[in-house]
Amino acid sequence: MSLLTRRRLLRRAALSATAAGAARTGLAGATAATTAASTAALGGCDSPPERATDPEQDRGLRFPDGFGWGAATSAYQIEGAAKEDGRGESVWDTFSHTPGRIRNGDTGDVAADHYHRYAQDLDLMRDLGLRSYRFSISWPRIQADGSGRPNQRGLDFYRRLVDGVHERGIAPMATLFHWDLPQALQDAGGWENRDTAERFAEYADAVFRALGDQVPVWLTVNEPKTVVQNGYIWGHHAPGFQDEDAAYLVAHHLQLAHGLAVQALRASGVTGRIGPALNLHPCYPADDTAEAAAATRLHDGYENRLYLDSIFKGAYPQDVLDDRGPDSRMVRGVRDGDLKIISSPVDLLAVQYYTPIYVTGDGSTVRKWPTSEAEWQQIYPEGMYDILTRVTRDYGRVPITITENGLPCPDVPGADGNVDDAGRVSFLRDHFAAAHRAIRDGVPLESYHVWSLLDNFEWAEGYEQRWGLVYVDYPSQRRVLKRSAHWYRDVIRRNGL
Ligand code: FCB
Repeated sequence: MSLLTRRRLLRRAALSATAAGAARTGLAGATAATTAASTAALGGCDSPPERATDPEQDRGLRFPDGFGWGAATSAYQIEGAAKEDGRGESVWDTFSHTPGRIRNGDTGDVAADHYHRYAQDLDLMRDLGLRSYRFSISWPRIQADGSGRPNQRGLDFYRRLVDGVHERGIAPMATLFHWDLPQALQDAGGWENRDTAERFAEYADAVFRALGDQVPVWLTVNEPKTVVQNGYIWGHHAPGFQDEDAAYLVAHHLQLAHGLAVQALRASGVTGRIGPALNLHPCYPADDTAEAAAATRLHDGYENRLYLDSIFKGAYPQDVLDDRGPDSRMVRGVRDGDLKIISSPVDLLAVQYYTPIYVTGDGSTVRKWPTSEAEWQQIYPEGMYDILTRVTRDYGRVPITITENGLPCPDVPGADGNVDDAGRVSFLRDHFAAAHRAIRDGVPLESYHVWSLLDNFEWAEGYEQRWGLVYVDYPSQRRVLKRSAHWYRDVIRRNGL
């Protein structure tokens, strides 16, 4: 059996440990039936898992001066205002309005209503003492149909947001694409169509010219791998396809879009820094057989090197290309010069870390550590250390920012109105400590953004999974700082644990 076939079998074994895994699907009935009561037993939230670090031992850890403590969000997950000020439809509007796609039939139409409440949310960030705020710009607010003259009202919103971030002494970090592709471009083939990468560069150029004087750091494409796997292989994210051959052509075009946006920034004369935002999963053999080692290597190719090597080494990994085969749409879709564009020099790498992956000799994955409400997640802080040090070892001392790391908890306000997410505090403490060890061992890590600032629309999971430092009471849109938010404020104040 080829490794590719094994991978297909693995995919069918739905609840795998990949962060792009099937646990995010609203299609998986078993997952949808998960209750707060059953997840409490999963560890992570109510019952902190086996600790990788000792809180006492971590006490007193100090981060480098000026370390960029932050939090992250994305446009479709928080903004709402789906039809306001000339915003067009995105693939996520279409997908979330398709019956059966999202748990409880939730949509991002209102979300956390951040479009109207951004000033209040910025005040919360200031109160937390955040030094960096990572958000995303909604492409369909800027170009309703994905091309042509930018919509001034959309640009004005982000101008107000960015100005407000600065006014509160926080540094803005803007992601250009966090999955909300204009539906009109999807209708023209979406990321299977090479032209979408060109359209992306035009959109990026319009944003650079409008906001470039105020945004010091740009991120191009958020987690291309999740679009590839969740959107095109499993189909539980927009656009909801199950076509592996198409998926890897999409991977190539997303990488191309990244490279073209980097070139557009340089050509615009804007001085900000730019880089990719990749969700990286350290892959480990599940046992010490030669088969597990080989399968892990290929898994790592698909999870990490496909994206890292093309950007930092100007070549796709040969094992992945061989596995795809010469007749695959991806291999046929790579044109002369593409890898040169994709590997246009970047200023930093944004790493998003949630989980490790353990691979067996037959290419399937197993779970070794406690999970969370997100069943694709295994709580393993050491994986943060491993992936950061590995990136620095294999790709050089490119500055790194962590743009996502976090834990969903079944948060419920108590009788006193407080939300006691002690498990999230332990989770973050252990991961901060792992990041600190990575810095000590030479990783040029400059900032860390917790996912997420606010509870929000968690894609196929709708509003049921809460990832925020700040609790959102959706009916009233009231915000409540969770215990983790109070704790994080102290971490920021102390610049350490
Ligand atoms: C990441 C996504 C982010 C959020 C977290 C939980 O993969 O980038 O939008 O869904 O997972």
